[in-house]
Amino acid sequence: MSQPWRVGITRDILDSRGEPAFGRRALALLDAPGIEWEYLPTVVPAVDADHAARYDALYVNTARVPAGAVGRADCRLKVVARHGVGYDSVDVPAMTAAGVVVTNTPSAMPRPVATIALTFVLALAGRLMTKDRLTRTGRWHERMDNMGLGLTGRTLGVVGAGRIGKELLRMAATLDLKLVATDPNVDAVTLGYLRTEKVDLPTLLGAADFVVVCCLLDAGTHHLIGAPQFAQMRPDAYFVNVARGPVVDEPALVAALQQRRIAGAALDVFEQEPVDPANPLLTMDNVIVTPHSLCWTDECFHNMASTGLKSIVDALSGRVPEFVVNREVLEHARVKPWFAR
Ligand SMILES: NC(=O)c1ccc[n+]([C@@H]2O[C@H](COP(=O)([O-])OP(=O)(O)OC[C@H]3O[C@@H](n4cnc5c(N)ncnc54)[C@H](O)[C@@H]3O)[C@@H](O)[C@H]2O)c1
Repeated sequence: MSQPWRVGITRDILDSRGEPAFGRRALALLDAPGIEWEYLPTVVPAVDADHAARYDALYVNTARVPAGAVGRADCRLKVVARHGVGYDSVDVPAMTAAGVVVTNTPSAMPRPVATIALTFVLALAGRLMTKDRLTRTGRWHERMDNMGLGLTGRTLGVVGAGRIGKELLRMAATLDLKLVATDPNVDAVTLGYLRTEKVDLPTLLGAADFVVVCCLLDAGTHHLIGAPQFAQMRPDAYFVNVARGPVVDEPALVAALQQRRIAGAALDVFEQEPVDPANPLLTMDNVIVTPHSLCWTDECFHNMASTGLKSIVDALSGRVPEFVVNREVLEHARVKPWFAR
């Protein structure tokens, strides 16, 4: 009998009880004939050449996958599956050069991340955190001075109408909000189907009661929102970022909030993560903060794990996985015959 395929799962996906944070259900995918799996023996900041010599596929959470992991002649690694959308922790060019397929789990994220954007909008509009504090601190009678913002007819502006942005627009349409979006790569017709008007960024900033950043981070969007953009927002408008911290010039956001040039903000992401405990955003009562994990739910993690583990089973079975990050690797001499079987 031929040797079973060996799959390693990095231990950084286990919770404090030693259980997979994504639940056990998705692990059933690995109960496939010819597959053996185990957690790596220890938590490692990065996988190395010994791991690559032991496993045919690795399911990685935060552990990095550097070029050195695939440099040795005894490398049997064929697949690196990332639990998540981002793959900056994986040296993708090195994997491509070594003939290792890299996969991610983008289909698992739009609903959970759109949900947190909407959660932030609803919490800001209802002044949820403020009213929670009033109730706990004996300030019940101050509620008259803390009126919320009704959403009907108000304007939601989405910066970046990709998978997450579109899902947010779809969900927000049920709230009778007026929807506007800016995205250089999404046309007006596509947005029209989502009852959304395509506008440029300055128009969006001037019109929106809620500006929600959902775009990707790259050289073109780094500090896309800075002092000039906050100056274009209305003083009664709220700012939400669920994408990546560096899309926003954080000192400019702090200044805009301190000078009350905008009404408030809700942030799941920061320029520096984990966030510096001295960051002034943490002490502002008109700011809601969460540790880049508001979208972590049983649904989100199960969807990620079932997509990611399925991509491993597919690849080891000779089927091209649905979400391959480095598609050019499919032409690699080590990979092409594999999928042509
Ligand atoms: N908070 C979280 O836990 C979490 C989870 C998943 C993803 N994210 C972030 O959300 C981002 C978006 O995810 P996605 O799945 O929608 O990605 P996506 O690639 O489908 O969409 C990104 C969109 O940004 C647009 N864009 C590029 N430049 C722009 C610009 N200058 N102005 C406006 N839009 C611009 C692109 O055209 C694209 O449509 C990811 O890149 C990631 O950084 C955050």
